[in-house]
Amino acid sequence: MKKLVVDLGDRSYPIYIGAGLLRRADLFSGHVAGRRVLIVTNTTVAPLYLDALVSVLDRFAPVTVVMPDGEQYKTLGDVNRIFDALLEQRCDRRTTLVALGGGVVGDMTGFAAATYQRGVPFIQVPTTLLAQVDSSVGGKTGVNHPLGKNMIGAFHQPRCVVIDTATLDTLPDKELAAGLAEVIKYGLIRDSEFFRWLEANLDRLLARDPEAVAYAIECSCVDKAAVVAADETERGQRALLNLGHTFGHAIETGMGYGSWLHGEAVAAGMVAAADLSHRLGWLGERDVERVRALVARARLPTRIPAALGVDRMLELMSVDKKVEDGRLRLVLLKAVGDAVISADVPLAAIAETLDRCGGGM
Ligand code: NAD
Ligand code: GLY
Repeated sequence: MKKLVVDLGDRSYPIYIGAGLLRRADLFSGHVAGRRVLIVTNTTVAPLYLDALVSVLDRFAPVTVVMPDGEQYKTLGDVNRIFDALLEQRCDRRTTLVALGGGVVGDMTGFAAATYQRGVPFIQVPTTLLAQVDSSVGGKTGVNHPLGKNMIGAFHQPRCVVIDTATLDTLPDKELAAGLAEVIKYGLIRDSEFFRWLEANLDRLLARDPEAVAYAIECSCVDKAAVVAADETERGQRALLNLGHTFGHAIETGMGYGSWLHGEAVAAGMVAAADLSHRLGWLGERDVERVRALVARARLPTRIPAALGVDRMLELMSVDKKVEDGRLRLVLLKAVGDAVISADVPLAAIAETLDRCGGGM
């Protein structure tokens, strides 16, 4: 087992990474505050892993909430199901919430934990690659609004993150690929050596070689933990973690939540960001091609869907948390492994990129 730490002073917490950790009661018990836990999961993950987690948390008499599965249920209304259970069971402030599932379950459970009685502790048990390398770490929690992705939320750090890499055995290939988009992102924004490792080892990841998968999760969590420790509430460099996301969130909102996977939308968004970076004279043509090629090899989309034209994409992109004083701020690349945030990108260049990178499925 590997143990990493997200260093946030007295709110620091561990990330445990290894196969079979879901059955390690000792990893959980030290982080449960109080005597009760409420586990939130969904209809797909519950039959696979809920019994194991319930038995590991047995002495905390776990209450369970099984949510419907899908991004379209990541809404304020659906979070009420968690509040209903907490109130029906008379759960107090010393109840610990446990999120068992992918990023949707994690974001919603974290948001419920941030807001129930103005804040209760929670633990992340991510079961998708995307959640293991990104969403379970860093304390961003929230839900979607029909007009914008992740628009309602709060920062609320978990007490610990337990990554059982064996849970990926049941993850569909398409979801594994979606997680790879966020893995590639770390290489692009701050870790050129990791990007080269990914170029050399992508086939091992696609074949689910346990050693390669564990290494990719560990590198990603090291990168994420470092960024979060330096800028917990996104005053500066944490925004770099959103490479491809302004394009990606527009795709997810525009196509209807659940239609494109988050990771798929981010993948097409990263290719668009690379194209735009080249257009601005920052990124060489060869590096744009490296980005496109790695995304394609990961079996991820490289083009923005044809159904969303340039004007619609611009309209959707203007609803983004990085917009400040009406100016679109985009994460772009100076080189592979070196991202910057820019508020000065000419609209014409963005429109050209949207045009050039459009026409996908
Ligand atoms: P998801 O939670 O919808 O999970 C993907 C699918 O895999 C679902 O159908 C789920 O039921 C299923 N699943 C989960 N674990 C499984 C397993 N082990 N075996 C079989 N099936 C399994 O999607 P996701 O990609 O995990 O997360 C995407 C969400 O995360 C988006 O809402 C995105 O906005 C959010 N996100 C948040 C952050 C953050 O910092 N909070 C970062 C990145 C993404
Ligand atoms: N996924 C973006 C962040 O955690 O900041």
